[in-house]
Amino acid sequence: MAAKRDALRLVRPHLAAMPGYKPMDSIDVVAGDLGVPEDRIVKLDGNENPYGPSPKVTEALGGFGFYHLYPDPEQRRVREAVAEYVEVDASQIVMGNGSDELLSIAAMLFLSPGDAMANAPPTFGVYTFLSHVSDARIVQVERNEDFGLDLPALERALDDGAKLLFIASPNNPTGNCLPREQLERLLAHDAMIVVDEAYAEFTGESFVDMVTEHDNLIVARTFSKWAGLAGLRAGYAVFPPALAEIVWNVKVPFNLTVAAEQAILASLEDRDWLHKNVALIAAERERLFSRLKDLPWLRPYPSQANFILCEVRGPAAKGVRDRLAEQGIMVRYFDSPGLRNCIRISVGKAEHSDRVIEALKGIGAGVGK
Ligand SMILES: Cc1ncc(COP(=O)(O)O)c(C=O)c1O
Repeated sequence: MAAKRDALRLVRPHLAAMPGYKPMDSIDVVAGDLGVPEDRIVKLDGNENPYGPSPKVTEALGGFGFYHLYPDPEQRRVREAVAEYVEVDASQIVMGNGSDELLSIAAMLFLSPGDAMANAPPTFGVYTFLSHVSDARIVQVERNEDFGLDLPALERALDDGAKLLFIASPNNPTGNCLPREQLERLLAHDAMIVVDEAYAEFTGESFVDMVTEHDNLIVARTFSKWAGLAGLRAGYAVFPPALAEIVWNVKVPFNLTVAAEQAILASLEDRDWLHKNVALIAAERERLFSRLKDLPWLRPYPSQANFILCEVRGPAAKGVRDRLAEQGIMVRYFDSPGLRNCIRISVGKAEHSDRVIEALKGIGAGVGK
């Protein structure tokens, strides 16, 4: 008992006290809880790709003969392939265990305890989590009603000393993009801007080209969403050259598995097949949007990503989430000052939209009566 108390006393106090980040449950856990097979679950809570990885990935992973050897610590082949894909020099790219790892590396690079980090909620919860891990001070600058940035307030936060700002474009969970001229304005301040492009392939727009001209811009990207590799953890970031050199010195070695490496190479070879699925998802998003709009108690927000945020008018969003979950349909719900009573539905295939719409109609039948 005494040893246990001592160990807790040695933990850095801010870490012992911090709230954790609560990600969603995996499909096997959800299926186990509901007592149904995994293929009966309609998983629309993680913005995952319903088409899965390229068949070339499965083939490459099955045929790979070197799982017992460590990967190339300099990630040479895979960085060359990604460099060709995003059209920057390979020396600016660092691969990681999902783009989450690159976001975490950015926080490690810039945030000392007590430093200020600006944030623009509602947005991806990992940014706040990383500020807690770093023991940084978070300056929350709520987005406007339409979820656009409150640019003057953010610029003030940067001028007042916030060192780092993460901006997702398209933003999760609101689905809107950062206009290029707004990024230009943010970059004019003496602070690091990390643009998180986890969903960029669904818009076709990227800010990677701006990294070469701006030494305070990092762009984080991932193969989780467009390429269906979420479970393999395959992300990367494009850094200004001077920062890339430091990242190599501070990141843990071998942070990209050989499996992720093989999967990335095979995905890039089969990018046309993957981009066709991205187009199918974008088309399904529009169909789902118009069907959600037909439900008078839901207000869907337009999205450029692979999910749709809906304000729930009437019933509690959490109750709607729970009733969908009882039917094996998983969505996220939000209820915070900047995001009152909302659900977020990932875009799946047409059959998934049909199931969620039918279930929502059933729930809605009791609304307003
Ligand atoms: C905005 C945003 N950034 C990053 C990630 C994490 O991506 P990865 O799977 O590459 O860690 C997500 C995942 O949902 C996300 O929504």
